[in-house]
Amino acid sequence: MNKLLITLLVAVGISGVAHAAGDKAAGKEKSAVCAACHGADGNSAIANFPKLAAQNERYIVKQLNDIKAGNRQIVEMTGLLDNLSDQDLADIAAYFSSKAGTVGHAAKDLVEKGEKIYRAGIADKGVAACTACHAPTGSGNAQAGFPAVGGQHAAYVEKQLKMFREGQRNNDPQGMMRDIAAKLSDAEIKAVASYIQGLGK
Ligand code: HEC
Ligand code: HEC
Repeated sequence: MNKLLITLLVAVGISGVAHAAGDKAAGKEKSAVCAACHGADGNSAIANFPKLAAQNERYIVKQLNDIKAGNRQIVEMTGLLDNLSDQDLADIAAYFSSKAGTVGHAAKDLVEKGEKIYRAGIADKGVAACTACHAPTGSGNAQAGFPAVGGQHAAYVEKQLKMFREGQRNNDPQGMMRDIAAKLSDAEIKAVASYIQGLGK
């Protein structure tokens, strides 16, 4: 638990850098190109494209910077952010963050197992409860830049957890998510991802 606390404090400190304030009206215009995949209001219809609606602004800005710099590789978005300024990214993040997010359903046979992992972690494997950073409602921690996950497409969540586990996604501060995902089996990932899809406020 101490290690977790220290990690949390360090992460909050690191993400405490100042960002340009985003203008959501300007962001709406600038996000037209994103709508094809992420949906005009950030609630994408396709499970491989993450929902951005109601996502924490600070987290979106960080991802956009990571994607633009090549620290998080997304083939579908190749070159798309090259001509966008810091202000453009802040505006787009403010826009999507301001939209209400839709919530899906968890598979009935996975709810119990998924909920247990999400709320209590897996003690004998040293897996921390997801609620510690992603909150009981799945809203994340806006100030710390921890992403909202509630209502996110299960297929996308499953893919991210596997990518963290294999180290193919490695833009998480201090390897926080890689440490956790490394201890999860395919079945555990599937269950918690399904639970998250149905998790809302
Ligand atoms: C051709 C489809 C496509 C377009 C257009 C597109 N994206 Fe994406 N985006 C994706 C995919 C696919 C992913 C997730 C990739 C993965 O599985 O890691 C993603 C991921 C993201 C993420 C990370 C979300 C998270 O929860 O971590 C953000 C933020 C994002 N896109 C923003 C944008 C913005 C802003 C635009 C417009 C400037 C845009 N995208 C345009 C396909 C697209
Ligand atoms: C110590 C804090 C912490 C704990 C505990 C934690 N996470 Fe995370 N998680 C993070 C951070 C920070 C990120 C974002 C990393 C980045 O900036 O790219 C993240 C990212 C994610 C993402 C990707 C979100 C997206 O939109 O791409 C998923 C999915 C996720 N976590 C699921 C989980 C699950 C499931 C658990 C519990 C088994 C969990 N997390 C426990 C801190 C945590």
